[in-house]
Amino acid sequence: MDKTCVYPLTDNERNQLGAALGKVNYDPQGGQNYITDLRIIADTHLPRRVIDVLANQRTSLNPKPYLIFENLPTDEAVFTTPEAHTFAPAAKSGTLSESLIMTFAGMIGEPYSIQFEGADVVNNLIPKASEKREYTGLGSEVELGFHIENAALKHVENASFSPLGLLLTGVRHDPNGPLTRLADARQAIGLLEEHDVDCLSQPLYRIKVPHRWRDQGAYITEPIAVLSGVLDFPEVSAVFYPDMVEALSKPAADALARFHDALIQVSIGLDIKPGQLVYIDNRFTLHARDSFAPSLDAMSNPLRWVQRVFVASNLWSHRRLERIKARVFLPRDPAL
Ligand SMILES: [Fe+2]
Repeated sequence: MDKTCVYPLTDNERNQLGAALGKVNYDPQGGQNYITDLRIIADTHLPRRVIDVLANQRTSLNPKPYLIFENLPTDEAVFTTPEAHTFAPAAKSGTLSESLIMTFAGMIGEPYSIQFEGADVVNNLIPKASEKREYTGLGSEVELGFHIENAALKHVENASFSPLGLLLTGVRHDPNGPLTRLADARQAIGLLEEHDVDCLSQPLYRIKVPHRWRDQGAYITEPIAVLSGVLDFPEVSAVFYPDMVEALSKPAADALARFHDALIQVSIGLDIKPGQLVYIDNRFTLHARDSFAPSLDAMSNPLRWVQRVFVASNLWSHRRLERIKARVFLPRDPAL
């Protein structure tokens, strides 16, 4: 792991932040008042070096692939794990984890959710038996291969809903749980031959739109390049779970396979725990999650509970979506 991307708080800093966040009520809608309250808390209670790191991620031309914050405040008690996608205040002693992830999200961009990814602004990623074979945050039995979140949606006209980044934090830990893997595409490109990089930079690939977005009329993109922009500062569009990318030639398919190998080679594995928060830059860092068999608690609920928030640099591109809650959107039915 790149230690320059890891930022622990001191115990004193953790306690101060925890005391301030403990006084705020979580707003599942993600209302502006709530977000402004959290931004004020961040400015007052986060150490200057952390504020600088978060600001740099927005402004740098050579941003970090990911940021890992450690020794963060946690909820005093977690009693059980709720159903996936639900906000269940009785599951733990307060809403500190929600306010924590929203605080960091609000310092990098504009937090939001898409309703079918989670009905509230903070999404609960909890394995769900009925969806164990799904390629989503609720699956478990299948490995969720390396991907840029909603990569295809970078290329669908008027539907640029691929997030700038995503944040994950642990609420409850499954000792037999999966690792989340992160791979900086810029490092992987450095391992490739020039002819493969050439292939990846040409419009020789079509990416399928995630299942839940297909009602939008688009099913697959026009031919696009996996790598775009200047190579030192690439923007990446790729998904490595089964049947999501169509390569338009044999050399293009081979280049993509070698890119995948290189990503695995440079990747790091992270066992996301309470008190830890990771920001993944979705422009050039791919993420993956191992397959696993969820452990259950005494109430037969899964031990693994991770929370997630998406961030955009602004919400202008969301204007075509239906606003269900302040920061929760839903694609409109194109037939209407
Ligand atoms: Fe993902």
